[in-house]
Amino acid sequence: MKQLSAEQIQNNWKKLIDTIEGFISDDRKENLLKMYEDFKERMMFAPASAKGAYHNAMPGGYVEHILHIIQFSLQLKKVWEDNGAEINFTDEELVFAAMHHDLGKVGDLENDYYIPQDSDWHRKNRDEIYKHNPALQYMKVPDRGLWLLQHYSVKVTDKEYIGIKLTDGLYDEANKAYLMSYNPDYNLRSNMAYILHQADMMATHIEFDEWKRGGNKPQVVNNKVPKSTDEQKQVENMKSKFDELFAN
Ligand SMILES: [Fe+2]
Repeated sequence: MKQLSAEQIQNNWKKLIDTIEGFISDDRKENLLKMYEDFKERMMFAPASAKGAYHNAMPGGYVEHILHIIQFSLQLKKVWEDNGAEINFTDEELVFAAMHHDLGKVGDLENDYYIPQDSDWHRKNRDEIYKHNPALQYMKVPDRGLWLLQHYSVKVTDKEYIGIKLTDGLYDEANKAYLMSYNPDYNLRSNMAYILHQADMMATHIEFDEWKRGGNKPQVVNNKVPKSTDEQKQVENMKSKFDELFAN
């Protein structure tokens, strides 16, 4: 199972704050930093999901997930741009939306969103490490995130607003009206939401792969991830069978 060390959690927090310093403009930086300072203790140790087999369900998982989606969004923006897509948004808008797409998972002003699962049965049989905190008013994750931002008087552009709302793509039924309209007037006016959705999907799958490997990042050699020992043995067995059958 993947775990982050205290040092990794600290470093990730620093990277997140450095990202705000580097990307967010002065007119909203101060209010945003205030929000991060208020949520520091909780956000630093928050998980990104509740179940072991989902993504980053461990202390520090939330911030690491956010750093992933920021990095992947910027990388994917370049792929879209290099292939002719219209980029009518700024890096600040992209990073801001990536940074806050899951903000609602931190909870509200008083309560954590995820609390440790206290039922052994659920831990054992359902792989639930955390559970939703019943003390919270129900809200969709993007709604709570946007609500928190307005609480701290952090202005959000329309592209950021739509990007945060649609990061889950069609995994959230509520997004259908934005993504499956047959009225051309309703088409999204920017590719930013699609890029964020791709980045989020990439991040969750890569985090799941890391969890399966126990938290070690694979060494990428010649763009290929080395096979596990079992897979390697299988390949060797097949190779010797092939040699046996077809040699001479
Ligand atoms: Fe996410």
